[in-house]
Amino acid sequence: MNESVKFYENYFTKALNNIRQEGRYRVFGDFARIAGDFPNAWDVQNNKKITLWCSNDYLGMGEHEVTKNAVINAINKYGVGAGGTRNISGNSEAIILLEKELADLHQKDAALMFTSGYVSNSATISTLGKLIPDLVIFSDEANHASIIEGIRFSGCAKHIFKHNDLNHLEELLKIYPKDKPKIIIFESVYSMSGNISPIHLICDVADKYNAMTYIDEVHAVGMYGKRGGGITELVGASDRLTIIEGTLGKAFGVVGGYIAGSANLIDAIRSFASGFIFTTALPPLICEAARSTIQYLKENNYERQALHARVSDVKQAMRKAEIMFRSGYSHIIPIMINDPEICKKARDMMLAKHNIFVQAINYPTVPKGAERLRITPTQHHTEEMVVHLINSLQDVFMELNIKQDKKAA
Ligand SMILES: Cc1ncc(COP(=O)(O)O)c(C=O)c1O
Repeated sequence: MNESVKFYENYFTKALNNIRQEGRYRVFGDFARIAGDFPNAWDVQNNKKITLWCSNDYLGMGEHEVTKNAVINAINKYGVGAGGTRNISGNSEAIILLEKELADLHQKDAALMFTSGYVSNSATISTLGKLIPDLVIFSDEANHASIIEGIRFSGCAKHIFKHNDLNHLEELLKIYPKDKPKIIIFESVYSMSGNISPIHLICDVADKYNAMTYIDEVHAVGMYGKRGGGITELVGASDRLTIIEGTLGKAFGVVGGYIAGSANLIDAIRSFASGFIFTTALPPLICEAARSTIQYLKENNYERQALHARVSDVKQAMRKAEIMFRSGYSHIIPIMINDPEICKKARDMMLAKHNIFVQAINYPTVPKGAERLRITPTQHHTEEMVVHLINSLQDVFMELNIKQDKKAA
C-alpha cells in the first residue's frame, strides 16, 4: 500500500474501529431464501436451515405464486431492464398501470413511482421545500432516516415534535400565522416501536392550522385496511392526507417506493424531483409483480387476517412466558434489550444455537440505550415455530442473564 492509499485507508479504519468499540458494527446475515419454504432460509455461512423472524416481507408475497407468475409473464413480454429514465425511454405501460393501481389503492388522483421508499421520501420532501420555499416542516421525532434526509435537503425551517404528541405539535404550529405554508410529516406504523399514530387527530390539528399532511405508510400498506390501503384506509382517513407515501418492498414483497396525492401535486413532483428524474425507471417485471400483488391483496383478505391472528398468538405466547415487549397494537414486536453488545450477543446466540434469525437493532436505527430485537411474525410462521421462538428467547435471556426492565417494556 503506498503512502497516499494508507493516508485515506486510515479514515475508514478509524471509523470502523469506532463502531466496533461501541458494539454497533453491523453484521449482515448471509442467507438464501428458499422459494416455497418461507419463512425458512438457508444460512450460507453456517450451512444450515434457519427461520427468519425479522423479515419485512410481512405477508410472504415475495414468493407468492401471483407475484412469481407476474414476473415470469412480464419477462416474456417485456424483457428485463427498463432501458432508461422515465424521460428517456424508461417509461413503460407497466409503470403507468402500476401508478394507476396505487392511486386507486389510496383513493387519490394520481401516484408516482420511485426506485425505493427511501428515495420517495427523500426526493418528495426535499422537492416540496424547493416548490414552496417558505414552507415550515413539522416532523415526528421517530420519523425514518429517509424523511430526515428529505427535510435536510429541503432547506426549510423545521420543528421536531415529540413522538405522537398532539399537544407538542400544536404548540409548535401556533408559532406561525395561518397563511404560512406548513406540512406535518409522520408515519402510520412506526417501524422500530410498532406504534400507530393518531391519524384523524393529527389531521384535525392540520386543518386547524392550515397545514398539509404527509404520511409514511411503508409498514402498513398491504396489511391494514379492507383492500390493503394501510392505516389511512383502516380508519377512513385517506382523503384527509395530502400525500400518502408507501413502499413495494415490504408487504407487497417486491421493491420500489411511491407517493399518492392530487394530480397537480404529483405532476409537480414528477417535474421537479431530482431523485425521480435522473435515475433509471423501475423495470416492467418489478412493476408487473407489484401490480399483481397489490391487486391480489385488494381482493383477498386471507393473508391480512392470518397475519394479524399469528401476531396475536405470538404476543400472547410472549406474555405467558413473561417475555416483555412493547405492544404498539401493530404487527411489529420489539423486545427491548437496551444494550448494544448484549443485543448483538442475543442475535448471535439465537442464530448459532437455535437456528433463528432475529436481527439486533442498534444505534443509529434506534437511540443509544434503546437497542432491541425486532420480531415480525408472518402468517407463514407455524405454531411449532412460535413455540420454538419462545423457548429459544427464554434460553438466550437466561444464558446471557438478560433481565428485562418491566417498566421500559
Ligand atoms: C418508515 C420507513 N420509511 C421508508 C423506508 C424506506 O423504504 P424502502 O425500504 O422501500 O426504501 C423504510 C425502510 O425500512 C421505513 O422503515
